[in-house]
Amino acid sequence: MDSDKLPRHVAIIMDGNGRWAKRQNLPRPQGHMEGVNRVEEIIVAARQAGIAVLTLYAFSTENWTRPQEEVTMLMRLFIRVLGQKAKDLHANGVRIRFIGRRELIPEEVLRVMDASAQLTAGNTGMTLNVAFNYGARAEIVDAVRAVGKAALAGGFNLDTLDEEQFSRFLYTQEQPEVDLLIRTSGEFRISNFLLWQISYAELYFTPKFWPEFTKEEFQAALQEFAGRQRRYGGI
Ligand code: FPP
Repeated sequence: MDSDKLPRHVAIIMDGNGRWAKRQNLPRPQGHMEGVNRVEEIIVAARQAGIAVLTLYAFSTENWTRPQEEVTMLMRLFIRVLGQKAKDLHANGVRIRFIGRRELIPEEVLRVMDASAQLTAGNTGMTLNVAFNYGARAEIVDAVRAVGKAALAGGFNLDTLDEEQFSRFLYTQEQPEVDLLIRTSGEFRISNFLLWQISYAELYFTPKFWPEFTKEEFQAALQEFAGRQRRYGGI
């Protein structure tokens, strides 16, 4: 694929693990487990395609309202998966970053998050942002707080603050904006994901549940993106 037709930053709302499991009469955790297989597959496919940044919505600020046993199951799954896969990702040159608020995240989860981020911090192959306890409005509020602090500390003049400067206070810092946003499972919502960064993103919705979103499905999304006309408000 032409590199100018390739998105630099792809963000994915991985939805439908529970419904996929239900449809096959499996317990919900099986859906999440199969979802992890697709996470691995899509990271590899994105890396091979030459995507610079991949952002995955793993756990939202709203997901804490799920039944306690599902939250606990998901936390254990993250600990296990991150513990097992960080080395592979590192070997493949992937830099792992976490975006979201640290508050509420159990200590054990924070430990594996920090360890995998530190291990891979120097990699330049592909940046993988894992959105964890992430909410876009919270991100914008956090950025406003940080801007305010910097201004008070004499860092810069608020009167000349522009969009470019502001965006550097977001969790995504210097990363390129999202070019392509994918949501699986036939839902047509943004669900408080990357509200600032998707301003000019192309949106791609598929009825496939996340456990069915294979590398071929991902490649189909990249093909569709390559055929889109992006005008950014121009003609
Ligand atoms: C959405 O399906 C999925 C989640 C809330 C969890 C996604 C997490 C993973 C696939 C594991 C990722 C792991 C790492 C390390 C990145 P759902 O439960 O909302 O499905 P439903 O809408 O059908 O109920």
